[in-house]
Amino acid sequence: MNDEAEATGLVRSWRESAAAPGTVVLDGFHALKHALRFGGDVRYACTDDLAALLRLADELAPDVAPALAALAVELPGPALRALAPKPHPTGVVALAVRPGPAANLAALSRSPRPAPVVLLENPRNLGNVGAVIRLAAGFGATGVVTTGDLDPWHPNVVRGSAGLHFATAVERLTLAELPAGPLYVLDPEGADIRSVTVPDDALLAFGTERHGVSEELRGRAARLVAVPMQPGVSSFNLATSVAMGLFHWMSGRRP
Ligand SMILES: C[S@@+](CC[C@H](N)C(=O)[O-])C[C@H]1O[C@@H](n2cnc3c(N)ncnc32)[C@H](O)[C@@H]1O
Repeated sequence: MNDEAEATGLVRSWRESAAAPGTVVLDGFHALKHALRFGGDVRYACTDDLAALLRLADELAPDVAPALAALAVELPGPALRALAPKPHPTGVVALAVRPGPAANLAALSRSPRPAPVVLLENPRNLGNVGAVIRLAAGFGATGVVTTGDLDPWHPNVVRGSAGLHFATAVERLTLAELPAGPLYVLDPEGADIRSVTVPDDALLAFGTERHGVSEELRGRAARLVAVPMQPGVSSFNLATSVAMGLFHWMSGRRP
C-alpha cells in the first residue's frame, strides 16, 4: 500500500476495530500463524515487508501461506509503527476476534470431558499465563480457566502463547462459575503426584505465583497433590508446575 491516504484510512479502521470488545492483537508471525491454522477470525494482518512475510510463511507454515497472502497488507514503516510502536522482529501485527464466551464455555463444560481443564487461580504474570496456554494446547487439555483480574487475552499473553489461544478454550471465570469435574489442586504440601491418577475430567488447579492456592480452593479440592522437591526448595514456577501436572496426566493414558 503506497498511497498515504489509503494507509491512513487503514490505520484509522484498525484503531476502530482494535477498540471493539473481543478484539485481540496478534503480535508477530507465530501468533498469526496459529490463529489462522486453528480457525481464528483474523481481520487484518499488516507488515512493512510483504515479500519477506510471504517468504517466511512459505518456509515455516505453507499450510497458512495462501490465507496469509490473501489477507496481508503492506504498510510504510511509520504507519506500521502507528499500529505497533515496537513491531515484533518478524515485522507483522494482526487483529483477530476472539472466540465468543459461549463457544468456550460449551467446550469447557463438555461431558464426558476428554482431557482436563487447567485452572489458574488469580495468576499475576502475563508470560506465565501465555506459557500455560501454550502447554494446554500442546498437551490437548480441554482449556484454561483463569480467575482474578488478569485478562487471559491480553496481547502479551497471546504473544506468550504464540497465538495458541485459538487451539484451546481460554476463559476468565469466578470460582462460582467453574465447570463441573473433580478438582485436583497442585500444591507443594499435597500427596506425591506419582501415587495419583489424574482423571480426564479433572480440573487441574494451580495457585497464584506469590501466595499459592487460596484456602477456598484448597477447601474444595477432591485431591491435593504435589510434585516432590528436594529439601529446602519451596516451590516450582507456575508454568513449570502446569507442565508437570499435564505431563503426569498424559503419562497415565495409553499412547
Ligand atoms: C510459584 S508457586 C506458589 C508458591 C507459593 N509460595 C506456595 O507455597 O504455594 C505457584 C503454584 O505452582 C504450583 N506448584 C509449585 N510447586 C509445586 C509443587 N512442588 N507441587 C505442586 N504444585 C506446585 C502450585 O499450584 C502453586 O500454587
